[in-house]
Amino acid sequence: MKKVFKWIGIVLGSLIGLLLVTVAVLYFMGSARLNKTYDIPPDNIAIPTDAASLELGKHRVETMCLGCHTEDLGGMVGWFVSEQIGYVDSSNLTSGEGGIASTYTDEDFVRAIRHGVNKEGKPTFMIAVTATYHINDRDLGAIIAYLRTVPPVDRQTKPKYFSPFAKVLLAAGAFGQLPAEAVDHTTRPPAPEPGVTVEFGKYLIDINDCRVCHGAELNGGPFPDPTIQLITPNLTPGGELSAWSEEDFIQTLRTGVTPGGHQLSEYMPWQEKSRLTDDELKAMYLYLQSLPKLEQATGQ
Ligand code: HEC
Ligand code: HEC
Repeated sequence: MKKVFKWIGIVLGSLIGLLLVTVAVLYFMGSARLNKTYDIPPDNIAIPTDAASLELGKHRVETMCLGCHTEDLGGMVGWFVSEQIGYVDSSNLTSGEGGIASTYTDEDFVRAIRHGVNKEGKPTFMIAVTATYHINDRDLGAIIAYLRTVPPVDRQTKPKYFSPFAKVLLAAGAFGQLPAEAVDHTTRPPAPEPGVTVEFGKYLIDINDCRVCHGAELNGGPFPDPTIQLITPNLTPGGELSAWSEEDFIQTLRTGVTPGGHQLSEYMPWQEKSRLTDDELKAMYLYLQSLPKLEQATGQ
């Protein structure tokens, strides 16, 4: 009898040991991914100074960045807070105290917005990079030029923090890829001419973070913040949008109310997107209507 207990003890002990080793290995793999340094060659984007470009930059920033970086671009304290996973503030993008603009070169801005790495070349946790990666040279130059002109805001953001548990989860694949891992640093996507076209509509959907929330194929799915249990709607003709006119689509994004009278929740950043021009919304509508009819994804 004693022998049996001894063997059970050895087996159990070994299993627990193996589990601990696996967790430790995952922990170090997760840490290594967060600490990896990316060496990204300069993109050499021209930074314009003319009034029309500054206006374009302002328009892009107001439709794409304010929701996370706040109306004054001084950064959001507590942008992501989870006791189990960690803590992230969005950066203060101005030249005020606690802001990055006074120390960031134009190239540092390009690397942060397009490649998802900070001044030290380490991956950031700005999930929108999978969208902002698609911003073409003209728009990105205009965005950086405009950011240089915004009034300085003094707001100190706190350093981000990930729990050991989060590092294990990251290595186990629970969070998918970090933005810097998800984007292709060597090739550039196409940059179509502005216009009410399917191509430009796709560009606008790509650079705005529609796919971050509505899924890579735009047929909806789990909300990207794992602490929020929510399934986003299908934007392909497989969903409600198949019955919407162009005017319905514009009205929904402008008012936050769907043709069926449903008030969109705060999780859909319609107020920010309501600043898109009519032509931009028309192009996006054209693109969405051109998509294959897909079934609503649920992430199951
Ligand atoms: C979905 C939310 C979200 C959106 C949209 C967003 N950001 Fe961010 N951004 C963040 C967060 C969060 C951080 C902090 C990331 C970190 O510290 O790892 C950040 C960091 C940054 C940084 C600094 C990165 C570094 O070097 O540490 C820059 C620059 C930046 N954002 C620019 C922009 C611009 C420009 C836009 C609009 C085109 C934009 N962001 C849109 C959430 C967002
Ligand atoms: C931060 C996540 C997020 C982003 C980014 C986002 N959406 Fe949404 N969207 C949602 C959620 C959540 C809902 C559902 C809201 C509700 O029903 O209360 C929604 C609803 C919608 C609806 C209504 C669909 C229906 O069937 O009722 C449309 C249209 C829409 N989004 C379009 C867009 C477009 C276009 C973009 C990009 C410009 C975008 N969304 C970006 C989260 C997001």
